[in-house]
Amino acid sequence: MSSPMSADTDTSGHNPDGTRRLYGRAKGKALSAYQARMMAEKLPQVRVPDAPADPLSGIAGYDAQWLEIGFGGGEHLVHMAKTYPDAGLIGIEPFENGVAKVLACMDRENIVNISLHHGDARPVMARMADQSFDKIFVLFPDPWPKVRHFKRRIIDAEFLRDVHRLLKPGGKFRFASDIISYVDWTLIRVMDDGGFAFSPASKDDWRKPYADWPGTRYEAKAFREGRECHYFEFTKI
Ligand SMILES: C[S@@+](CC[C@H](N)C(=O)[O-])C[C@H]1O[C@@H](n2cnc3c(N)ncnc32)[C@H](O)[C@@H]1O
Repeated sequence: MSSPMSADTDTSGHNPDGTRRLYGRAKGKALSAYQARMMAEKLPQVRVPDAPADPLSGIAGYDAQWLEIGFGGGEHLVHMAKTYPDAGLIGIEPFENGVAKVLACMDRENIVNISLHHGDARPVMARMADQSFDKIFVLFPDPWPKVRHFKRRIIDAEFLRDVHRLLKPGGKFRFASDIISYVDWTLIRVMDDGGFAFSPASKDDWRKPYADWPGTRYEAKAFREGRECHYFEFTKI
């Protein structure tokens, strides 16, 4: 999957409705016939329901509820769903090819513990109830490395307030990035939020991937291009 961050047609950084514009291209190469069929037939069966229905209704019966924001090609989402069949996962991604890829995987491998939203995470998060999730994952969010694009970074004070609100007490927020300025950016905002604890098991804990980490396509690209990756897990206090 090529990164949608290269699209840069809008200089205001905002959508017509005034919300911050966070991502560029939402479509990549043409879907295969099978993927197109999955989008038309399977997505309606597994999608996060529209308001006024409870967005978590598709994963309500599971022992734990997890949310992945910006799952890209879905490597982590699918891996976690298969590794933890007792957890129900919501995956949110605006990039059509990523959604189609996960749907095809769910279909081929009979994965039933994932609900998908094709679009922006923020409006869906806004209508989720407090204390909905045990874990929230934001893994290698679009880096927007240029200073004039920082406003497009998904992590900001409002987003972190929502992450905090949506976590159950003691819930975990995982954030990973290969862009050091984004790591600093996030650590400052997490500290400012004041609602999260960071208790690394060792002094360089954040240099090591999570124990249940499968690797993602974006992480592999970062390694290929010589960037170090950083993996944080914060606990809601
Ligand atoms: C750099 S990619 C990383 C993908 C994946 N997590 C990985 O590690 O390979 C960032 C992803 O975040 C998605 N994204 C950007 N803005 C988003 C938003 N507002 N809501 C949900 N996902 C978003 C992008 O479409 C993209 O797929």
